[in-house]
Amino acid sequence: MMRVLSLVAGLIVGTSSAAGWKTCTVPRTNLTDDSLAVNALLANCSKDATILFEAGKTYNISTPINFGNLTNVEISFQGNLTVPKNIPYIQNIVNSSGVFHLAWFTIGGTNVTLNGNTDPNWGWVEWHGDRWWLASGLTHPGGLLIRPYGWTLEFSNSVIKNMKVSNPIAWNFQTGGDNLTIHNNRVECQYPLDNPDYFPFNTDGFNLNGSNIYIHDNWVKNGDDCIVVNAGASNIVAKNNYCEGGHGNSIQLQQNGSISNVTFSGTTFVNSLYGGRFKSYQGLSGQISGITWENFKMTNVSLPLYLTQNYYDQEISSAPPAVTPSTVTTNLTNVRIANFTGTINDVNPGDNSCLSVPCWYNVVNATKTEALIFDLIQGYASDIHASDIDMSTVSGGRTIDIFCTPSELPSGTNVGYQCVKGPLVPT
Ligand SMILES: *[C@@H]1O[C@H](CO)[C@@H](O)[C@H](O)[C@H]1NC(C)=O
Ligand SMILES: *[C@@H]1O[C@H](CO)[C@@H](O)[C@H](O)[C@H]1NC(C)=O
Ligand SMILES: *[C@@H]1O[C@H](CO)[C@@H](O)[C@H](O)[C@H]1NC(C)=O
Ligand SMILES: *[C@@H]1O[C@H](CO)[C@@H](O)[C@H](O)[C@H]1NC(C)=O
Ligand SMILES: *[C@@H]1O[C@H](CO)[C@@H](O)[C@H](O)[C@H]1NC(C)=O
Ligand SMILES: *[C@@H]1O[C@H](CO)[C@@H](O)[C@H](O)[C@H]1NC(C)=O
Ligand SMILES: *[C@@H]1O[C@H](CO)[C@@H](O)[C@H](O)[C@H]1NC(C)=O
Ligand SMILES: *[C@@H]1O[C@H](CO)[C@@H](O)[C@H](O)[C@H]1NC(C)=O
Ligand SMILES: *[C@@H]1O[C@H](CO)[C@@H](O)[C@H](O)[C@H]1NC(C)=O
Ligand SMILES: *[C@@H]1O[C@H](CO)[C@@H](O)[C@H](O)[C@H]1NC(C)=O
Ligand SMILES: *[C@@H]1O[C@H](CO)[C@@H](O)[C@H](O)[C@H]1NC(C)=O
Ligand SMILES: *[C@@H]1O[C@H](CO)[C@@H](O)[C@H](O)[C@H]1NC(C)=O
Repeated sequence: MMRVLSLVAGLIVGTSSAAGWKTCTVPRTNLTDDSLAVNALLANCSKDATILFEAGKTYNISTPINFGNLTNVEISFQGNLTVPKNIPYIQNIVNSSGVFHLAWFTIGGTNVTLNGNTDPNWGWVEWHGDRWWLASGLTHPGGLLIRPYGWTLEFSNSVIKNMKVSNPIAWNFQTGGDNLTIHNNRVECQYPLDNPDYFPFNTDGFNLNGSNIYIHDNWVKNGDDCIVVNAGASNIVAKNNYCEGGHGNSIQLQQNGSISNVTFSGTTFVNSLYGGRFKSYQGLSGQISGITWENFKMTNVSLPLYLTQNYYDQEISSAPPAVTPSTVTTNLTNVRIANFTGTINDVNPGDNSCLSVPCWYNVVNATKTEALIFDLIQGYASDIHASDIDMSTVSGGRTIDIFCTPSELPSGTNVGYQCVKGPLVPT
């Protein structure tokens, strides 16, 4: 009875209304779990409302929250939110949901804004993921099997801005829907690049599905894709993002599906494993076209551009299946790569994501000074063109190479550089 009374009191105090618009302030009533108060608010605040996590408060989000389908709602993250530190406690919640990767925050609907706080001390979602990364190294390298997903966002005409995530356990923002703007968000994994015990596996920054997405001026330090576009997506522009550590601005095919019109432009990469990346497994079908990676500024990047149609999972096999005349994959065409500057990490290439021998990111016979690597399947790659690649090695003085096999491309293809395994020479 006490519990019900305190929640109702919180709801009444926390809800104010003006000209049809409500501000629903999430009360900080329960020291153990403030998720319950959010659920109570939702009954009355899922339309024409601001749901406010107040500045100056730290909320315990001890159970997952499904906001349901919201219409014209801003969720304002002015205070801090923390997820419990206790790993078995969280795993138990995820596991009892019947899936390995239950989303901690699920939000659907239309005209939804997730708005963080621009004060650097507030508006963080703190996951205590460093504990998970360490535990994974000790018991299940590559990431604990049972882990929560961060955010599953199935909304349209919506905005994600100023959000700040600290030490995520794993994946961060996963979107669906149409017409999204995603800007000025921060995903920060605080891990030492030289300590393998704390590698933040699977901490993808932005995992994009859907269409008409403009993602710009975000800041990500993580251990997997900074921004990744998935099967079914179209018309995506990623501009002026910052990616540190991590696995690049990627297009990925994990299932059949097409992708069209994706531009990654103006990304700054620091100490990353990849810059631009395309990865498709063999055996899939789909048309992938109109892909641009351009205006990249890189510092100490191991593989500035890597296109592979032979992707594989290092936890399942140590190499992709051999390519035979009957091998099929997704069809990659109309690709533009332009204006890359900066340095290639030829001194200590790679990162601590390597669990297999040979390492999953190893390219047989590569010199580790390649600016461009193409690992394609004949008949499934065409119209790929690069220009203005102006990079140097961290060690200084070494020749910049390209890794390209003419038989993997239609005869007569001009990729903008001589298609050889050797020095990068413009045609
Ligand atoms: C606080 O949350 C816990 C855990 O969800 C719950 O068991 C308890 O009843 C709540 N207490 C109040 C006063 O709401
Ligand atoms: C709830 O948050 C407070 C700080 O606001 C913290 O001291 C406490 O340990 C948290 N409780 C749980 C169960 O996470
Ligand atoms: C919903 O909010 C309105 C005013 O904002 C209030 O009058 C009403 O009691 C609330 N309903 C519930 C179930 O809390
Ligand atoms: C939101 O709406 C969609 C489409 O109407 C529906 O499929 C989905 O189940 C709804 N989600 C929730 C959490 O109610
Ligand atoms: C969309 O939501 C915002 C608040 O985030 C509101 O100001 C605006 O009026 C809504 N748009 C429509 C078309 O209702
Ligand atoms: C997950 O749940 C299953 C039953 O659904 C159980 O057998 C298993 O032990 C649980 N695993 C963990 C790690 O809790
Ligand atoms: C909010 O959370 C962030 C990230 O955990 C932390 O650095 C900051 O100190 C917190 N703010 C306050 C006022 O506790
Ligand atoms: C896209 O979403 C924004 C933000 O909600 C909205 O202002 C705009 O009208 C939407 N555009 C279209 C074409 O629906
Ligand atoms: C991709 O862009 C081209 C050229 O602008 C356009 O014709 C095509 O409709 C776009 N594709 C999609 C799925 O919108
Ligand atoms: C090349 O990219 C840089 C950013 O890395 C940008 O400042 C410059 O304007 C680009 N050059 C051209 C010709 O687009
Ligand atoms: C791949 O796309 C190109 C360009 O549209 C087309 O010419 C070719 O037939 C396609 N190949 C396959 C295997 O679909
Ligand atoms: C690597 O180079 C060696 C020597 O040139 C060659 O025999 C071998 O086939 C190459 N392997 C691959 C996978 O390209």
